[in-house]
Amino acid sequence: MKFQLNDTFTELYKKPAQWHICSPGRVNLIGEHTDYNHGFVMPMAIDKATHLFIRPRQDSQVNLYAANFENSYSFLLDQLRAGEHEWGEYAKGMAWAIHTYYQKLKYGFDAVVYGDIPIGAGLSSSAAFELAIGQAFCLSNSLNWDPVIMAKLAQQAENEWVKVNCGIMDQFICSLGQVNHALLIDCDSLEYEQLPLPHNTKVIIMDTATRRGLVESAYNERREQCEAAAESMAVETLRTLGEKDLPTLQTRLDKTTYARAKHVISENARVLEAKQALLNNDPIHFGKLMVSSHESLCQDFEVSSEALDTMVQIALDTEGCFGARMTGAGFGGCAIALVRADEAEQFVKTVTEQYQKSQQMEPYLYICAPSQGCSASPIN
Ligand code: GLA
Repeated sequence: MKFQLNDTFTELYKKPAQWHICSPGRVNLIGEHTDYNHGFVMPMAIDKATHLFIRPRQDSQVNLYAANFENSYSFLLDQLRAGEHEWGEYAKGMAWAIHTYYQKLKYGFDAVVYGDIPIGAGLSSSAAFELAIGQAFCLSNSLNWDPVIMAKLAQQAENEWVKVNCGIMDQFICSLGQVNHALLIDCDSLEYEQLPLPHNTKVIIMDTATRRGLVESAYNERREQCEAAAESMAVETLRTLGEKDLPTLQTRLDKTTYARAKHVISENARVLEAKQALLNNDPIHFGKLMVSSHESLCQDFEVSSEALDTMVQIALDTEGCFGARMTGAGFGGCAIALVRADEAEQFVKTVTEQYQKSQQMEPYLYICAPSQGCSASPIN
């Protein structure tokens, strides 16, 4: 693949690429819809990624060729204007955010982009692309790669340029992921901790093959409900509240808003318990927390779907499964399971068959490996 894309690069730009950037997708093990409430999350980077082959330029032109779509997009750094190009906006958004922060984005680059993260599946293909573009700008402008600053700038690009109101989780894990580790992030202080996964376990990604529209409006509605719940207690975010506050919240909020707050508060506590489970190398406890997280997302936060619930149930009924839950924003896309390593292959077969039988749809399951965050290597 690497050689082929290199050839494509040389054919297009008449000179070979100088850098290969690899920027991974992610799954979230636990801590869903907590990041924008300044709570705790525990994602891991996966072994599916966006790849950029680049060559820095001596002028302000950025040329991108997306091999997946056989589609090109170019822009000039000194004439940045918001437009409507589907994936080009992410690149311009990054240019804008980096320039605003560093005040010295002068040079563009030529690039060939290729990715194997399924798009729209909730595996953060957009965060992966943003961080890859961030690396490309750093290399072209001799800026130091600071993974925390870059994650924040990528979130800013997505919020303010692309106008998607996401939290910090996806960009953070895509930037800071480490091989064989999950990342506990405190989305208030942005402190983080790498945690090893339990021995002899595998994380399986289970794509339901369903995609739902209107995810964005439902997502924004959940954010507003969480903000209203925090406001009712005169605090900035739900992060500052705990289980002891639930009775008061119940008297101040309507049933739905209360349920949203209850999910966030209980989910934050589960993430911290999940950290302990990892430190104790206890997949059984970790699995139970995944199941409670799914139930809370389904009943209190109402962001699951029939397909996700079915997938999770089939996984839980299958040999070797410690726990399963939906992952990401919800409404469709992927669930994950923590499974005994020696059962993983059989698990994939059984769950695929059972899901197909029940939903008359072909799911996509694979055993994934916790991977390195966004990185660049020179091409010789
Ligand atoms: C999406 C957002 C994240 C996070 C999750 C839900 O993936 O991009 O910031 O809010 O949903 O946990």
